[in-house]
Amino acid sequence: MTEDANLAAPHNDIPASVSDRVTVDVHLGPGELDQALRHDVHTGLTADPKELPPKWFYDEHGSALFDKITRLSEYYQTEAERSILSERAAELVALTQADTIVELGSGTSDKTRTVLDEATSNGALERFIPFDVSEEFLREAANMLAARYPRLRVHGVVGDFDRHLANIPTGGRRLIMLLGGTIGNYPLAERRQFLNEIVAGMRPGDHFLVGVDLVKDPARIELAYNDPAGVTEAFNKNVLGVINRKLGADFDLDGFDHIAFFDDEHEWIEILLRSEDDQQVHIPELDLDVRFAAGEYMRTEISAKFRQDGFEDELADAGLHPVAWWTDANNDFAVSVAARR
Ligand code: AVJ
Repeated sequence: MTEDANLAAPHNDIPASVSDRVTVDVHLGPGELDQALRHDVHTGLTADPKELPPKWFYDEHGSALFDKITRLSEYYQTEAERSILSERAAELVALTQADTIVELGSGTSDKTRTVLDEATSNGALERFIPFDVSEEFLREAANMLAARYPRLRVHGVVGDFDRHLANIPTGGRRLIMLLGGTIGNYPLAERRQFLNEIVAGMRPGDHFLVGVDLVKDPARIELAYNDPAGVTEAFNKNVLGVINRKLGADFDLDGFDHIAFFDDEHEWIEILLRSEDDQQVHIPELDLDVRFAAGEYMRTEISAKFRQDGFEDELADAGLHPVAWWTDANNDFAVSVAARR
């Protein structure tokens, strides 16, 4: 065995029958995500009121905490969406006739596998395009899926869906999916822009599928974001941990309280951190000192809740024609499907 073959050893467990069907396009340079974090943290912590965007929750620790959230009994969304997808997979495949499925924010494509199972065995699926920010996880997931579906081509795209939607491969009849209620992180104006960008890349015959959490008893929504075990609290505070680890900051996570409440004017959950005392934080990598007053609030996330009429109007405004609205047995969550007109 040559030295080169030894260097290639970590890839030896991926047979050619799998790797031959996997491609990965990388649109994010190595320093680009760090640069975006620095920009967002600087902008957000020098603004009044202070704010941090929710995309920075998800480092390794934050992703593990989110995974824990999805298994909490109070957090009904994940199971509700999973039940809708498995119940409706056959209908979805018949309706869309997709030969390509694109998944935005794919992660491990856990819930998507019911759809992939159906679309490969009883549909026309030839190609799966997972889209995510982490190259390492995307490569791993792409190989895993290619191994699981022996005739499927997997074309991964590493990018940020605020910037790289235009880089999604075209061709065929595509079904573009955005699961998990992620669209609720965008307030209305940004949602409109996001939908317009999605539609700009679609051709007639393509479909868009999106999971949305529904407006319901505020007490139940609030409990889902204030779980008694404190997992959501740890998840929220972890954004400060991310800034500590990535930018050398000295945030004291115990110096902040987790707040999550339903804003019934906007019909969204608002998630904040409240500084318990007057405190100063030093962020060496940004050469920045930030002062928090006692009781000061900093928003870290909004999670919009939807109604069928309002959401389908948004889809129509973006140039989509709603073709299905499927809810779980409790009417907690909906999967909406729309076609490009
Ligand atoms: C992944 C954005 C859908 O809004 O419910 C869960 C994130 N934040 N608990 C949501 C989240 C706190 C989640 N989304």
